Amino acid sequence: MKIFLDTANIREIEEVASWGILSGVTTNPTLMAREEGADFEETVKKIASLVDGPISAETVSEDADGMVKEGMKFAAWHPNVVIKVPSTIEGLKATAWLKREGIRTNVTLCFNANQALLAARAGAFVVSPFVGRLDDISEPGMDLIQEIAEVFGMDSEIDTQILAASIRHPRHIIEAAKAGADIATVPFGVLQQSMKHPLTEAGIERFLDDWRKREAVQIATVGTE
Ligand code: E4P
Repeated sequence: MKIFLDTANIREIEEVASWGILSGVTTNPTLMAREEGADFEETVKKIASLVDGPISAETVSEDADGMVKEGMKFAAWHPNVVIKVPSTIEGLKATAWLKREGIRTNVTLCFNANQALLAARAGAFVVSPFVGRLDDISEPGMDLIQEIAEVFGMDSEIDTQILAASIRHPRHIIEAAKAGADIATVPFGVLQQSMKHPLTEAGIERFLDDWRKREAVQIATVGTE
């Protein structure tokens, strides 16, 4: 399963790109709004210069015509730009239209397997089931990933990828991989947290301590010779 970063923050992207694990980035209007004063086009182009993989840019129109217009504009910014449209009938129309134009889509805000199946049939490049937001309303988000993986697996014509979104904690990442997601898009803080373990930290501390003791003994031994 590939790891994407769910952010529009350039510093976070630069940092995670340096870890050698980053395959793409997803943005959305909320994430963009957090980057006060940042221009959307400049941000997307900057991300594309840092990451060699799909960069999702979200449309805000409510009708297919508007989504397509926005999509065509965003896609011209860089070949790696993927157009985010919502899981609505208008989103399906835009997906099919953009597909005919050779433009990839990320059908987002997916909360049931029907939405995912129809998005795939319309030609979506990826569908984004929102795990955390389903958990928030006491529906097991990870079950949706599993169900979509099962449905897509039954149809050899479907090559749409499953992008697990709304990831809230490190356990979600592994559960998404086990449930059959192709990609998980993860917030920066959750990625940082996922590399932390108290035994790793204690282990480093102990190794360093033992190494320092060994060096102290060596220095003392040389001093007595
Ligand atoms: C996905 O592409 C979305 O940007 C994101 O995962 C939404 O997550 P949230 O529920 O934490 O806002």
